[in-house]
Amino acid sequence: GKGLAVFTSGGDSQGMNAAVRAVVRMGIYLGCKVFFIKEGYQGMVDGGQHIVEATWSSVSSIIHKGGTVIGSARCMEFRERAGRLKAAKNLVARGITNMVVIGGDGSLTGANLFRTEWSSLLEELVRTGQITKDQQTKYAHLHIAGMVGSIDNDFCGTDMTIGTDSALHRIIEAIDAIVSTAYSHQRTFIMEVMGRHCGYLAIIAGLSSEADFIFIPEDPADPTWPQKICQKLSQERSTGQRLNIIIVAEGAIDRDGEPITAEKVRQVVVENLQQDTRITVLGHVQRGGNPSAFDRVLGCRMGAEAVMALMEATPETESCVVSLDGNQAVRLPLMECVLKTKAVTKAMGDKDWENAVQLRGKS
Ligand code: F6P
Repeated sequence: GKGLAVFTSGGDSQGMNAAVRAVVRMGIYLGCKVFFIKEGYQGMVDGGQHIVEATWSSVSSIIHKGGTVIGSARCMEFRERAGRLKAAKNLVARGITNMVVIGGDGSLTGANLFRTEWSSLLEELVRTGQITKDQQTKYAHLHIAGMVGSIDNDFCGTDMTIGTDSALHRIIEAIDAIVSTAYSHQRTFIMEVMGRHCGYLAIIAGLSSEADFIFIPEDPADPTWPQKICQKLSQERSTGQRLNIIIVAEGAIDRDGEPITAEKVRQVVVENLQQDTRITVLGHVQRGGNPSAFDRVLGCRMGAEAVMALMEATPETESCVVSLDGNQAVRLPLMECVLKTKAVTKAMGDKDWENAVQLRGKS
């Protein structure tokens, strides 16, 4: 059977295990020899016991687990050609020419570069006597399919990244818990949520928890934000509300590109309204714990589709990323999506927020 490897890379997210499980089982079902690559690209570079054959039962009882049971890492070595050369040798040694990568845009970019270089890497391995000419011919083509695992939902091309829904569940539970204590003491709470340069978690969490104010990177606060927030909070209190909730995305900024931090917001509220105010930074709690039903099923569907894409690929087929479009699993050109995602980050860096939102909207 064809050699197929699956690995997770970059920050973990809930639902990655469901995706790994689906890749393994669909691969075995279609007659492939399936391998786990443990610890992401680092495991691919290191080889040895990091690349192990997967069996049907080795992915039993992982669908409900958060994180990724095969480990993930941010790998510096793979960014250098020398690291990628070692990785290629390790894959050829096991007959692996199909890879499913589950990660964010950085991990998918790395995979695509690897594929572009593949024939020159094999050439060098033959030249230096590390693989045979026969191996070079037999394993001449590398096929890659990507899936986006991230709680941030910051990837152009998919409606939901694997992990976002679970992170939202975690955030909502936390806000509900905070509300009961805030109510008791008539307090204002400022909650910082993750998302890097993306405000998706903050917006959806805010909408579903009746937050009074939300700060996100894509809509930088104008210079009048202190007046606006104070007006809003005092108006809520004057109608009898006993608490206020403010959500700050970790990447929130103002129009000068300066960070809007939970502490800045606290000072404004305390100085102007003298409200009893506390900050809660949710941190990695958002990325942990069991995946939601949605993320489990999403991981399963994406994983199965990724394997089917690889099995249908020809040497000319572009690498794809498996995405969710409405309720459909679709295959999109990997590099096109990565480049769009990078263009969003660039537009935000250039303070061209309208363009950033438009580009993301076109995803
Ligand atoms: O990309 C996922 C994410 O959790 C972001 O929301 C956050 O900014 C970042 O990763 C945190 O990275 P680390 O786990 O390395 O601290």
